[in-house]
Amino acid sequence: MAQVVIENVYKSFSSRQGEKTVVPIAAEPLVAKADEGALLAEGSPSPPAGGVNVLRNIDLEIKDGEFMVLVGPSGCGKSTLLRLIAGLEELTGGKIWVGDRLVNELPPKERDIAMVFQSYALYPHMTVYENIAFGLRRTSQGERERTSTSSATGREDVGAGLSAAKPTLERGRVISKDDRLGQATGLMLAMAGKIWDGVGRDLLVAMTRSLPRKLRYLSPKEKAIQEQVLRVARLLQIEPLLNRLPKQLSGGQKQRVALGRAIARNPQVFLMDEPLSNLDAKLRAETRAQIVKLQRQLGTTTIYVTHDQTEAMTMGSRIAVMNAGQIQQVDAPLELYNHPANRFVAEFIGSPPMNFLPVRVKAPRLITHQEFRLTLPEAWEEVLQNYDGRSLFLGIRPEHLSISLPAPKNLSVEVDLVEALGNETLLSVHLTDAPSSIMQVRIPPDRPVEIGERLWLSLAINKIHLFDEQTGRSLRVRSSELSR
Ligand SMILES: Nc1ncnc2c1ncn2[C@@H]1O[C@H](COP(=O)(O)OP(=O)(O)OP(=O)(O)O)[C@@H](O)[C@H]1O
Ligand SMILES: [Mg+2]
Repeated sequence: MAQVVIENVYKSFSSRQGEKTVVPIAAEPLVAKADEGALLAEGSPSPPAGGVNVLRNIDLEIKDGEFMVLVGPSGCGKSTLLRLIAGLEELTGGKIWVGDRLVNELPPKERDIAMVFQSYALYPHMTVYENIAFGLRRTSQGERERTSTSSATGREDVGAGLSAAKPTLERGRVISKDDRLGQATGLMLAMAGKIWDGVGRDLLVAMTRSLPRKLRYLSPKEKAIQEQVLRVARLLQIEPLLNRLPKQLSGGQKQRVALGRAIARNPQVFLMDEPLSNLDAKLRAETRAQIVKLQRQLGTTTIYVTHDQTEAMTMGSRIAVMNAGQIQQVDAPLELYNHPANRFVAEFIGSPPMNFLPVRVKAPRLITHQEFRLTLPEAWEEVLQNYDGRSLFLGIRPEHLSISLPAPKNLSVEVDLVEALGNETLLSVHLTDAPSSIMQVRIPPDRPVEIGERLWLSLAINKIHLFDEQTGRSLRVRSSELSR
């Protein structure tokens, strides 16, 4: 397990010919500024001419064992960030640390990271068992290659859980230096052991792989792999499916196999890129709960990408909200809901999204709109001093509006749409004197409402948000002060 630290990361792609250039942030330059050069990672390529920074200045620290969710609209750079961590894309600038290792220059297989892709990416001609075992064989092979150079130092381990694979014939190496014959025999035995271990066993494994499981030859390495596959299959309840091909599985089962393949490798970090997007609502909810439970059991640092905010709110211990290649806010789910840093986060977190109305400030704490006037709680006085006579955006969530009586502080609206969901009713309304001001309202299910009906709505005064008109930043007041 390990923490992941992302430090001032940039990623540019050169825009392809004929393709419209996407400028992620209107007022920002397309590439990192010259004075930011010092911050670019050593040896990283400079942004290509005419390139587009799809990620800018990403700083994010994911703690050891944490479940971090990356959320944001399509195209904001979530998958790109994940692929950079996995080593599938090259950094334009910045540094990425996994544990205490700077991984900028490390190839994916040496990063000890397992990635679950949205598309499952199972091998269609392999059974579930083989799909899960495949990654383990590759890992142990890779590790054997890596450790073979260090065998002179006596290191023969080929990974946790696979140490039983140590070849028995290599014991022939431990022979007295004085005994020349013995030494030669030992050498020959060691070589034979190497050949047997490298080729003979693998050959036998390959030759007997298609036989019924009980007749197969299993090398110590294969036995260790089998144990690991069975352990993971039990964990994910896919044991009965081990002999099936992917085409014989449902979407949810395929998803669990893809997860199993990642888990079996016992990596330091899991990266999951929208792994549930192909599932129906019920399976999605089930698998979501299963992933959270598994992550808690395993304690593996996890970075999970989604654009579904329900998934983000229910799964993440913290959420990083991204927009247009930048991180907008990193916080615990309820903190994002209650204290969004800016208008983008306020609108993105919460469903239906927050409503916004242009208002004017009259010190010390009066807010006016062409249709209503509100006196805010005292807690706002200090922050509103600087905004006297200026315009702001007032934000109010659909659940913080309620049907009320005519009053100067209330809004007169006309109902355009009624969605009765059983447990609640959602209304789409417009301000009576400003038809272009559309708002969403969430009301209890027992209040019948008709399309075209005129209503008066009151705003929950302690749940109001105010945003700077120019920067979109939230004006902060402590909620504890509001409730006094
Ligand atoms: N290889 C590439 N070459 C050029 N542009 C790319 C490349 N890969 C991604 N992009 C661009 O980078 C931006 C971010 O893409 P990315 O796939 O990271 O978005 P995302 O947040 O994962 O979106 P989605 O939710 O739709 O999966 C997009 O504008 C995309 O077009
Ligand atoms: Mg993506």
